[in-house]
Amino acid sequence: MAIEEIAVIGAGTMGHGIAQVAAMAGFEVALTDVSAELVERGLARIEDNLKKGVERGKVTEEDMRAALSRIRATLSMEDAADLADLVIEAIVEKLEAKRELFAHLDLVCEPAAILATNTSSLSIASIASATNRQDRVIGIHFFNPVYIMKLVEVVVGPETSEETLSTALEVAARMGKEAITVKDTPGFATSRLGVALGLEAMRMLEQGVASAEDIDKAMSLGYNHPMGPLRLTDLVGLDIRLNIAEYLFDKLGSEAFRPPDILKRKVAEGKLGKKTGEGFYKW
Ligand code: NAI
Repeated sequence: MAIEEIAVIGAGTMGHGIAQVAAMAGFEVALTDVSAELVERGLARIEDNLKKGVERGKVTEEDMRAALSRIRATLSMEDAADLADLVIEAIVEKLEAKRELFAHLDLVCEPAAILATNTSSLSIASIASATNRQDRVIGIHFFNPVYIMKLVEVVVGPETSEETLSTALEVAARMGKEAITVKDTPGFATSRLGVALGLEAMRMLEQGVASAEDIDKAMSLGYNHPMGPLRLTDLVGLDIRLNIAEYLFDKLGSEAFRPPDILKRKVAEGKLGKKTGEGFYKW
């Protein structure tokens, strides 16, 4: 299916970035949020990013102006969704909010339109079942910051059609992303692998195998990871990692996801990582 217009719902951290890469890729974009201030803030961030791109010689003035002219900001969801061939939802990570939105989008969008979610953890099936077009619901999971991170995780629900998948893959490629195709399973591919590595690093620290610095160096210098798993956990937030670990342990039942004591203890002590000044490191 040929996609020309994309509606992005939610103009926050992810939504503004998705709108930016979509407009740079030549799509017409409608961007919406719940208040004029939030839509304006999203637009301002896009302008700011593109201006920095121009200053660094990565984007031409002409491409910046053309991209900005392709973005239409609106406060009305109906207005945003009306003409869209593809909707990408980037609102809060709450199942009920997403289900409500998808049920509404199902009513206001063209019957052929594809509804995608940028969820980083919720099941596609549980969102799709709020609509009467489960074959045209899919996960298109971008990474932050969207204009820098190359990966897109395309998450295929049990009812998602082949055509919806191939369209999502085409859109991701046009946006200059490398897409991977993942079945709708807890943690998809990225969180499942990333969290397993982080939790094993914590168990190694607990068992005195090596210091936090040396465990991190093992991965950064031995495997060329941009940073080690403990440092990354400090940046993401230990509380967030603990929540995901508990969720994955519950859903997948694998010992690999049982939250280590050291993680639970640090969270209980309020040592949540960089944001509180201490996690596995002092910041
Ligand atoms: P955010 O809080 O920065 O932005 C969400 C925006 O959605 C807010 O501006 C909010 O006002 C708006 N919103 C909420 N309900 C709405 C509705 N019914 N209609 C229109 N707008 C609505 O959140 P962020 O970080 O951009 O996350 C959005 C989604 O992307 C979540 O599902 C999150 O799990 C996912 N995600 C986040 C990543 C990250 O690193 N922040 C990475 C990958 C996915």
